Amino acid sequence: MFSIRVSSAAFGATLLFAAAPSAGAADSPLDIAVAKGARLFATATFDGNGRTCETCHQNGGKTPGQIGDRKLPSLLNAAAIFPRFSRGAGQVVTLEGQLQTCVRGGLGGTPPQLGSPDLVALTAYLGSIANGQQIKIGGEPK
Ligand code: HEC
Repeated sequence: MFSIRVSSAAFGATLLFAAAPSAGAADSPLDIAVAKGARLFATATFDGNGRTCETCHQNGGKTPGQIGDRKLPSLLNAAAIFPRFSRGAGQVVTLEGQLQTCVRGGLGGTPPQLGSPDLVALTAYLGSIANGQQIKIGGEPK
């Protein structure tokens, strides 16, 4: 009897142990990149003037933003409308290119390079808030 109780306790402990990694499996590499992007969006200054993305694109970019008196569209569908023509740049730009421009111009910082973990994370975050939006390259921001 005693030995049965011991082994069932051990079995329970094994189950508990086995459950932990599967609960953690919710944090896929993509989830981790999205979470990192959200954190960068709110806090990263990229060695610039102290602004973050959030300074101009409020609420994680989910609602319209503002610089002084100027209203900015939200970033809700940004990941669904690039590439698009940028009048400022005079050329067609990708989402990643736009992010680099905002880091350089808005944050006065050093843009993360194409393919770098930081740029991938920011792009993943913007993709996550645009999930379900209709893809329309060259479309209008919401
Ligand atoms: C000083 C204010 C400012 C900061 C800080 C800033 N941006 Fe922007 N952002 C703008 C402005 C202004 C535009 C509109 C650009 C245009 O089309 O003229 C813009 C446009 C964008 C767009 C394109 C939106 C669309 O749908 O066309 C994205 C995406 C974006 N910003 C992301 C970011 C991210 C990510 C950061 C942080 C790394 C950031 N921005 C920081 C001002 C800012």
